[in-house]
Amino acid sequence: MLFTNQAAAALYGSTVEEMLQTAFLEARSSTDGLLVQTGDFTRPQEVDFVDAEGATHRLVVSRNLIGDTDFDLTLALDITEVHRLQMQLHFAQRLETVGTLAGGIAHDFNTLLTPILGYSTLLEAMDMPDEVRTRLGHITNAALKARNVVHQILTFSRQRLPSRRQVSMPALIHDVVSLMRATIPAHVLFHVAIRDQTMIDADPGQLEQVLVNLINNAAQAIGNRPGDIHIDTWVETNEAGLIQAAVRVADSGQGMSGEVMSHIFETFFTTKGVGEGSGLGLAVVHGIIQNHDGHIEVESSPGKGTTFTLLLPAASALPLAAIVETDSTPA
Ligand SMILES: Nc1ncnc2c1ncn2[C@@H]1O[C@H](COP(=O)(O)OP(=O)(O)OP(=O)(O)O)[C@@H](O)[C@H]1O
Ligand SMILES: [Mg+2]
Repeated sequence: MLFTNQAAAALYGSTVEEMLQTAFLEARSSTDGLLVQTGDFTRPQEVDFVDAEGATHRLVVSRNLIGDTDFDLTLALDITEVHRLQMQLHFAQRLETVGTLAGGIAHDFNTLLTPILGYSTLLEAMDMPDEVRTRLGHITNAALKARNVVHQILTFSRQRLPSRRQVSMPALIHDVVSLMRATIPAHVLFHVAIRDQTMIDADPGQLEQVLVNLINNAAQAIGNRPGDIHIDTWVETNEAGLIQAAVRVADSGQGMSGEVMSHIFETFFTTKGVGEGSGLGLAVVHGIIQNHDGHIEVESSPGKGTTFTLLLPAASALPLAAIVETDSTPA
């Protein structure tokens, strides 16, 4: 060997001096022939090369005879980092494709659900025996649940871009609670406490989805026993001086273990039975809150209930005389 540099020596776990004392072929074979001896490298090729410490490098190698001599010049460019970034990009693109595909299917599915829900609602307005009405009710309920899942997938695949405007947090909470009062069983009591008036720059549809998911989970954690859901909102200034709207949804339900808690934001993670939970709710909540530059805190322990606190940057805040509504006369 006539010449080599430090980078090449390092790959072989050797020094330049040592390398110069070996014939190139020995140096190559001593690393399991990883720089293929017989291969045609007149065109640059990518090879994986395991260095002396066992780390894999992605190299672009070219080898050319020097003129009419017996010598050849081998050049190797280490592109390990570029290669890693390429793989990451590839993975991100694949995820995006899956998202687009799921979004497309969800969209078609939504179109199919429209006549099912439309006709079942029309039928419900007609006279019919109780038995038929009950069965029709099952159809409508299942279709409503299916529509909910479809909306979650659509949000998840980001098919709907967030359209932001000034949203009043207290008004949003009020709307969601009145809407949900009808669907949550009467043995679950709502207690809403609005301590400050905050405006946030947000997509109201997406924030509704966040609250609907948290309230549904709270009601499901309470189950068939009587229980309470407390929803509070107030203004908070963090250490960096950022004014935030805080929203807390606390339930007196079954709570969860640390193990469960460490997975709740994962897509498709559910502890509920088939047909009861899709495991998308909190993954969607997490995505939406991230989109809004906010964050989520969770406190829970088995038998002690669960508290979710959302913190979102406030556009403006106005302290109010506290308004406390307690739902002592459930619908
Ligand atoms: N308030 C809560 N109390 C106790 N456990 C909860 C609460 N909220 C979430 N969990 C746990 O986190 C899991 C994931 O919640 P997530 O909302 O993502 O999915 P899901 O409710 O199971 O299904 P989906 O919301 O898609 O119908 C739940 O299955 C449950 O184990
Ligand atoms: Mg849920």
